[in-house]
Amino acid sequence: MSTSWSPASWRTKPIRQVPDYPDAGALTAAEATLKGMPPLVFAGEARNLKAALADVAEGNAFLLQGGDCAESFAEFGADKIRDSFRVLLQMAVVLTYGAAMPVVKVGRMAGQYAKPRSSDTETQGDVTLPSYRGDIINQMPFDEASRTPDPQRMVQSYNQASATLNLLRAFAQGGYADLHQVHQWNLDFVSQSPQSARYQELADRLSETLDFMAACGLTSATTPQIRETSFYTSHEALLLPYEEPLTRVDSTSGDWYDCSAHMLWIGDRTRQADGAHVEFLRGVKNPLGLKCGPSLEADDLLRLIDALNPANEAGRLTLIARMGSDNVEEHLPALIRAVEKEGRKVVWSCDPMHGNTISAGGFKTRPFDRVLAEVRGFFAVHRAEGTHPGGVHIEMTGENVTECLGGAQAISEATLGDRYHTHCDPRLNASQSLELAFLLAEQLKEERRYGSVPMAARG
Ligand code: PEP
Ligand code: CO
Repeated sequence: MSTSWSPASWRTKPIRQVPDYPDAGALTAAEATLKGMPPLVFAGEARNLKAALADVAEGNAFLLQGGDCAESFAEFGADKIRDSFRVLLQMAVVLTYGAAMPVVKVGRMAGQYAKPRSSDTETQGDVTLPSYRGDIINQMPFDEASRTPDPQRMVQSYNQASATLNLLRAFAQGGYADLHQVHQWNLDFVSQSPQSARYQELADRLSETLDFMAACGLTSATTPQIRETSFYTSHEALLLPYEEPLTRVDSTSGDWYDCSAHMLWIGDRTRQADGAHVEFLRGVKNPLGLKCGPSLEADDLLRLIDALNPANEAGRLTLIARMGSDNVEEHLPALIRAVEKEGRKVVWSCDPMHGNTISAGGFKTRPFDRVLAEVRGFFAVHRAEGTHPGGVHIEMTGENVTECLGGAQAISEATLGDRYHTHCDPRLNASQSLELAFLLAEQLKEERRYGSVPMAARG
């Protein structure tokens, strides 16, 4: 691997999952427009996230990362952003209070527009067109005009990301996230579910704790940790012509940061050690994620860690295992052992979504039981290896969708079609997300009870 890096050095490497823009001039013009735009995030914020993730790597905190599979232009709106943010806050409260562990909150939001696809084209009848690759690239309707990649959509994505981020910052710091709001965060439809009763109970206990703290002099007015929260953004850094122009030198450190989001990750389909995506991300100082699917071998993982985190800094790299519920206990131990043997500092996170996708009733869906099973398997493997199950990475929404089978609302094949709105993969709805948070809190409590002691060493 060459050591000289620039924001454009990825262009000399083999690349996968790129759209075929028919108009090169229009692409260059859109890139130039983005280059003139202000950064969406600041280097100092990315450094704060890296420090928070270093706590996760050391076993003292938990990472909660979630949001849409693909954000869309059509479903953009304040209510939708608020609802997803609210469910993430609820999950974080369940985790923080239930497991007594700080939770690092990262949205798949404000930039999650580009999607890798298993095929470059889609055929319906005798017509073959480019696959839909996310709203930053083309449109979903199956006609030639919609499916032709349009670079101007990158500019629209930037603008939407900017508005989304503005609202998220206001929600996180403007009073909405004050812990005294913990009862208000319950969504109407969730209030009918068993999760809601459980959540209310927890919120009641939290309110009592806040009253006690107020009596001790710790209130929203005196304590920013009660009044506001830190919330970070992330997306898959897939469309490099979007990422490159938003990559800027930080004037305080002289380092390069991709200012499109705080954290960027590499997808399971674009993680080739000699490929363009690894080349691009190795040079920016943001905290990075790397999706680890069942085909990833331990040797390849170590090579990728060498490229992405050569200085072995805690918080720089999060390994997001997405094995599938049937594979996690078979494939994850070898990866963890290789990382431990080499003394590499990483965050281990579990994506229980992407290895558990099936077809049912004419829909792409995920059985909620398998999502929970992968999470349980992930925790079991870490318990056995004596390592910290550091986080979870989920596709979820605050809307009352019916995209994943099961959960307390018992969504069935017959009801999947009721509110199936996703632009790509099926998401957990608010009720399923809360159910998952309670399971995670239980697992984390157990981890605290046993500490990081390998199974074999326990009496
Ligand atoms: C995703 O996170 O939406 C995704 C495509 O994941 P993966 O790269 O793990 O398949
Ligand atoms: Co997805």
